[in-house]
Amino acid sequence: MTYFENSGIGLQKETVEEQNKIQTTNEKELILVSSLVLDLIKNDSDQALIQLSSIRNDVDIVAPILWYSTGCLAALLREIISIYPFLSPPTLTTKQSEKACLALSLFQTIASNQETRTLFLRSSIPLYIYPFLSSSHKSPSFEILRVTSLGVIASLVKTEEDNFVNFLLSTEIIPLCLHAMEIGGEQEKIISTFIILKILLNENGLTYICETYERFLAVSSVIGNMVNYLLEEPSIELLKHIVRCYFRLADNSRAREALKQTLPQPLKDGTFIDLIGNDTRILKWLNLLLEELEL
Ligand code: TRP
Repeated sequence: MTYFENSGIGLQKETVEEQNKIQTTNEKELILVSSLVLDLIKNDSDQALIQLSSIRNDVDIVAPILWYSTGCLAALLREIISIYPFLSPPTLTTKQSEKACLALSLFQTIASNQETRTLFLRSSIPLYIYPFLSSSHKSPSFEILRVTSLGVIASLVKTEEDNFVNFLLSTEIIPLCLHAMEIGGEQEKIISTFIILKILLNENGLTYICETYERFLAVSSVIGNMVNYLLEEPSIELLKHIVRCYFRLADNSRAREALKQTLPQPLKDGTFIDLIGNDTRILKWLNLLLEELEL
């Protein structure tokens, strides 16, 4: 062990103490998370969900413990499924929505963790979230549910691996994202556009979207509508994703030809100059896009 290799006694002692401290914190965390997970499984879920959700980003072991504890995923799914009956007709209460969002936030932790992400994908559990995305209701309880659900998918697409795009394409997430881009508020538009962007940035994703003119048109016209939305509700974050989506679409030759005719006017005439301010990256992408399209 390295302790014996250290020459300075003081350093040695510190290292051992440090080590012990780390160990006890880890053990304490382990016990805390495990007991909360047990409460969750035992159907005593309200407090357990709140507490697990509040520590989920600070404690690394939350994702693997949630994943590997027998009955835990079933308990989380129970929270998700229990509100299906209230989606249509739309009778979901704020309290129900908040509780489902806590469960979703734990799914997001599983989706963000390198160890559990692929397992989560392979389990097809993300599919249970899709019914929330097809709702169209604009009340806060529905909107927060869609935003949180999209957050789970967005965590999945943050990886560079290929498999997530194939999964998402095979499960028809694109129409759901387009729906969210159309009906959502700023946050919902930003996350769903980010997911589309990540799909486009993948080779298979770009090919899939540009495979038929109908698909290309569906995607580009929803993005085009968001450009008009930006005229009323400026959002630099959304503009950034939009410009990058167009820029990436232009990598496909047929899409490039189509965009030469259909790129929205406000992107061509400097309408967003004030919004862009001194964000040189967006300016660079926009200029490259216009150059690429010979506009
Ligand atoms: N199954 C549909 C298709 O393959 C899914 C779809 C609807 C879609 N709208 C889309 C796919 C827009 C890509 C883009 O066309």
